[in-house]
Amino acid sequence: MFKSISKMLERPPLFTPTETAFWDDDYISKQMLKAHLDPEFEGASRKLTFIEESVSWIKDVVSPVKYPLLLDVGCGPGIYAERFAKIGYQVTGIDFSKRSINYAKSSALKNGLDIAYHYQDYLTMRLNTAFDFATMIYCDYGALSKDDRAILMRNVYHHLKPGGKFLLDVFSVPKYNILKEEQVWETCQNGGFWREEKYIAFSGLYKYPNNVSLEQISILSAKDTATYYLWTSYFTKDDLVNEAKKAGFKAYTVFGDVAGNPYREDNHTISILLEK
Ligand SMILES: C[S@@+](CC[C@H](N)C(=O)[O-])C[C@H]1O[C@@H](n2cnc3c(N)ncnc32)[C@H](O)[C@@H]1O
Repeated sequence: MFKSISKMLERPPLFTPTETAFWDDDYISKQMLKAHLDPEFEGASRKLTFIEESVSWIKDVVSPVKYPLLLDVGCGPGIYAERFAKIGYQVTGIDFSKRSINYAKSSALKNGLDIAYHYQDYLTMRLNTAFDFATMIYCDYGALSKDDRAILMRNVYHHLKPGGKFLLDVFSVPKYNILKEEQVWETCQNGGFWREEKYIAFSGLYKYPNNVSLEQISILSAKDTATYYLWTSYFTKDDLVNEAKKAGFKAYTVFGDVAGNPYREDNHTISILLEK
């Protein structure tokens, strides 16, 4: 018992993947969808007030008249995608959470919106369309390892027309600098986010070199044990620009976030608008 618990709590090598499903787990994805749809909760999607501000800014900087074909990468349940469709973009959304994609499809149908949703991994996506504009919102880029980020950048580049734009955001190094490592545990008597039945969760927040953090959550229930690794890379403006240039992007503008607030060195997020 002691051996297996202490093994579960060991710090893994950098970017060790989670072995069990996370975004696409049947129970966890249900909790995740609830989190996405809570307008006040900042975790799966940002708060609704920010999203509204963000969509309005995006429309002004990358006009749906000039850039109509939009690919939303990691679209979740379509909170951005629906708003994009309503202001004139022709939207395609891609996500590998089946529950989110199913919700997005039925919501679009209910709201009379013509949006193409695909249940696919954005690292291997193959869509037979060249888009005018791609978005990847809420810092998902930084959840990828360096190799996967290079794949993602090239993949999005490949799916854009010449002159097409790509908007994404990341967490910044100043946010990494103020993180404090910690370990906590809790008993969830009536289940919770991770399991339907009673479980114990051991959570650790660890800082790795080169501006990477790990949130490690180990779950112990009567039915199973599992450990989830949530990696985050934090960026400087130059890190982000260099990764984009390596994929072939030639022009860029940097902002503080995807609502167009100005870039400042001490911001906790950075967003970049790239051009192919
Ligand atoms: C932080 S959420 C952001 C969702 C959405 N962009 C928003 O702001 O409301 C990240 C999304 O990326 C999706 N995702 C993560 N890895 C993915 C992958 N490899 N391929 C496709 N989707 C992925 C998740 O299922 C989740 O919906």
